[in-house]
Amino acid sequence: MRVLLGITGGIAAYKSAEIIRNLTELGHEVRVLPTENALRFIGATTLEALSHNVVDAGLYTDVESVKHIELGQWADVVLVAPATASFVARTAAGIADDLLGNVMLATKARIIVAPAMHTEMWFNEATVENVKILRERGIEVIEPASGRLTGEDSGIGRLPDTETIVAALLASGGLSGKRVIVTAGGTREPIDPVRFIGNYSSGKQGIAIAVAAADAGAKVTLIAANLDFATTRFDVIRVETVAELQVAVRNSTTGADALVMSAAVSDYRVRTESATKLKKSNLGETTSIELVANPDILSEVDVPGLLKVGFAAETNGDLSDLAKLKLESKGCQLLVANDVSNGAVFGANETSVVVVDDAGGETRLTGSKSDVAKVLIQKIVERLS
Ligand code: CTP
Repeated sequence: MRVLLGITGGIAAYKSAEIIRNLTELGHEVRVLPTENALRFIGATTLEALSHNVVDAGLYTDVESVKHIELGQWADVVLVAPATASFVARTAAGIADDLLGNVMLATKARIIVAPAMHTEMWFNEATVENVKILRERGIEVIEPASGRLTGEDSGIGRLPDTETIVAALLASGGLSGKRVIVTAGGTREPIDPVRFIGNYSSGKQGIAIAVAAADAGAKVTLIAANLDFATTRFDVIRVETVAELQVAVRNSTTGADALVMSAAVSDYRVRTESATKLKKSNLGETTSIELVANPDILSEVDVPGLLKVGFAAETNGDLSDLAKLKLESKGCQLLVANDVSNGAVFGANETSVVVVDDAGGETRLTGSKSDVAKVLIQKIVERLS
């Protein structure tokens, strides 16, 4: 997820360092946008080192890049932590007198604000009113925690701990509380100890979907067929063959909300796998391997209430017609079709797909696999809500 972290000028600004570290360790991309006053509490050098991104908070520097628009569009979520009473008030009033204020007005991303201030200020009528306005506009406001404040005093107003802020960021997406199973990669059917029948699938689209589902708050299980991918954000089950994939899908879909079957599955396997390496000297000039059909994993999954999202890799014919046929034959509610003629799509970061649904809808999407994944997740959110 791309997180734009706004920091405003309160003593809790030093805690933003921990938030950045936590988010980057979880694999999120973080850009930091402090106000001028925030930089009195925490140095730009610290923020740059932890986020691995340049901190440029000036409204009048680098103006040709139209930073407030660029940052607002870049972010999947804008998190402001800590947010002072003054920032909350400026946001409620729509005042854009610095770069962060401009981004707040320009962005269409989800916005989360974590206020931190003294108890008296938090309960002041003006603040109470301003927080209400923010919430009414769809901005998520995390309640401050109770505990030691800046001076000798203590009470409500502390910035909640990093774990609470990060959990709020990850949990309240559209798939919060949902279990999503994603298969990715390509299966391998062994011929002998050194050879297999495989395919060109890189798994990039499936991984992007798993990440987007986790970003939306889902509990994700990625079933990875022959992929070199690791993450601490969700469970990854490694499989090689169709038989292993079938078992993993069967075991994980019970009680799940959605299955996204993006793995490229071998339709056939070798009838008898050789225990020893096949030798040319024994096989002669021509040889053949007997193949037997594999089960169709997607078609056989029949879990009540499970949203089934299929994929189709096609090389000839009308993509949307083929997609509709496969959607129906596999009993899916959504199906994503790729034109993979001439090796297109495999391994690339960009893609172009047709998404069809069981209500007759059809959407064409072109862009990065990550952007396509986000739109697909949005469609899943709509279907599950
Ligand atoms: N699929 C599956 N089990 C199989 C074959 C495919 O679950 N044995 C799934 C794929 O993961 C994908 C969808 O079915 O979501 C369509 O896969 P695709 O390879 O495009 O189609 P096939 O069903 O194999 O049909 P064909 O190869 O004849 O186009």
